[in-house]
Amino acid sequence: MKTLTLFNNKGGVGKTSLGYHLGFMFAELGLRVVLADLDPQANLSTMCVTEDRLEAIWALKPRPTVFGAVERLKRGVGDVDPPVPENVAARISLVAGDLQLSEFEDDLSQQWPKCLDRDERAFRVTTALHRVVADVGSRTGADVAVLDVGPNFGAINRAALIAADFVIVPVAPDLFSMQGLENVGPRLKMWRDHWADRGGRAPALDFELPRGRMEPLGYVVARHSVFAGGAVKAFQRWIDRMPTVYRQSLGLPPQATGLDVASDEYCLGQLKDYRSLMPMAQEAKKPMFLLKPGDGAIGGHQGAVRQAYLDFKNLAAELLSRMNVQRGAW
Ligand SMILES: Nc1ncnc2c1ncn2[C@@H]1O[C@H](COP(=O)(O)OP(=O)(O)O)[C@@H](O)[C@H]1O
Ligand SMILES: [Mg+2]
Repeated sequence: MKTLTLFNNKGGVGKTSLGYHLGFMFAELGLRVVLADLDPQANLSTMCVTEDRLEAIWALKPRPTVFGAVERLKRGVGDVDPPVPENVAARISLVAGDLQLSEFEDDLSQQWPKCLDRDERAFRVTTALHRVVADVGSRTGADVAVLDVGPNFGAINRAALIAADFVIVPVAPDLFSMQGLENVGPRLKMWRDHWADRGGRAPALDFELPRGRMEPLGYVVARHSVFAGGAVKAFQRWIDRMPTVYRQSLGLPPQATGLDVASDEYCLGQLKDYRSLMPMAQEAKKPMFLLKPGDGAIGGHQGAVRQAYLDFKNLAAELLSRMNVQRGAW
């Protein structure tokens, strides 16, 4: 199973929505998918299941969520207990998010330096999120896992990124999001190096350590935050800077002069503003590209639905080929 995460320390750039739609498109292409909601805000879970269902999940004991999975480990009375995932659609399993996951942040912070002392529990805690996703992935025979994380450089995200083979950076054409792009590369490098250092000191363990690959595949231009009627020129200026800023952030050689996002190999795609399709999709608990007239996608919306299908299909296929997910699997 290959694991993919969408990461930018700026919120609201469309990470969760993109992860959700990619997960559904991977399944549409025939792959088995795990959606893992590792953001304590649990937005991905809210997109996948109704509020009533989420409330029911959170009321169960033990909680079949990512927090339930680490609760005994956190209390020091056991190890991870990966949950039975929520069946969201054909071939899609959700590891439900949980507001309580934020209580795990302190433990993750404290155990991180202790890995340097070859402390076994430190490795159990630090790799807990990886092991939950890997376990659910192997039980469901998943080909791909999409990990959704919050917009910060905290210890939960560090533990989530260690579990990620590949990283995509969604970027909106605004100052904050571009600043986020600048920050992501150095942070990934730091986490990768620090994990390699720790992994090399691990004692004998009865589980496999994540490789901490965190390979950046590129960026996706998120245009939905461009306000209608705003100064289009200003947005275009930010977009024109993306190839340079991405390369600087990741320490890559500078691009050929005059390269724009459309011809940039690191630009994985440009996400449109799908406007009213997005709230319709959230209401129907379906991806935008599967909306039917019965969901409210009538008239001109059907053309937009078909276009969205092609947009996400192209992006998903591009990602699968860059992640080297074998063609036969899809
Ligand atoms: N391509 C898009 N078209 C229209 N609206 C979008 C699109 N992507 C995201 N949104 C909306 O933008 C808001 C932020 O998206 P979200 O995925 O939650 O971002 P993040 O996870 O980065 O905080 C949400 O209200 C979402 O519905
Ligand atoms: Mg989000």
